[in-house]
Amino acid sequence: MGNRFQSSLTKKYVIALAGLFLITFLFVHLTINLLVLLPASGKYEARQMFNIAAHFMGSNIIIKLFEVVLFGGFIIHIIYGLILQIRNWMARPVRYRIEGWSHTSPFSKFMIHTAALIFTFLVIHMIDFYFKAKFASQGIASVVYNGKEYHDLGILVIEKFRIPGFVILYIAAFLFLGFHLHHGFQSAFQSLGLNHSKYTPFIKKLSLVISIILPLGFTVIPLAVYFGNY
Ligand code: HEM
Repeated sequence: MGNRFQSSLTKKYVIALAGLFLITFLFVHLTINLLVLLPASGKYEARQMFNIAAHFMGSNIIIKLFEVVLFGGFIIHIIYGLILQIRNWMARPVRYRIEGWSHTSPFSKFMIHTAALIFTFLVIHMIDFYFKAKFASQGIASVVYNGKEYHDLGILVIEKFRIPGFVILYIAAFLFLGFHLHHGFQSAFQSLGLNHSKYTPFIKKLSLVISIILPLGFTVIPLAVYFGNY
């Protein structure tokens, strides 16, 4: 039993570390994605900054190594999360009969459900962009900036978000991502043993801020493309 408890703690630790790493990725990903909205200026064409940043992310050797770590982080986070959830279900086969008995927050109760929805989104997202960029890039239009050829990955994003169904699907996914992060971020600190009466209230507030900023930031992109002049 002790061993099992110990290994649950180790899994929580790993889930927390992988989760915090994935949140860092989301901030970088959001920053780069927002570049797609920059209008043409005297110096740059529309989408130029985004396409150059995407090219750098797709070709730099260090970033390529980082991508392996990123996918590893996703896989570990998903597998360990699933194992813990299944163990929890098995440990408590009889559900609480009195509604509201459990004191856990609604966000924490639905972690596995929001996780499943985010995972579904990720599969669609990879098919939409990642696999096209990596394995079918010959079908993507080319652009030339300062004599160098780049793939116009930006136009792929713009074309996707001209379709209302995709705008709705993506925004729904960002909402679930927000729910997942709202509990996930603060819970990661607890799992790492970093809870302290002094810092925990701040971490909880930060968790709320992150769970709003990230989904909202991502939401700006499909909305701006759909309603704007891109
Ligand atoms: C408006 C929102 C988003 C846009 C426009 C967008 C766009 C893109 C594009 C164009 C790529 C391919 C880049 C390349 O391979 O060079 C990509 C990859 C990826 N996206 Fe997104 N994305 C969005 C939101 C998200 C969210 C919310 C997540 C996670 C929950 C996510 C996770 C990923 C991952 C894991 C990859 C593959 C790794 C990488 O290439 O960096 N994306 N995304």
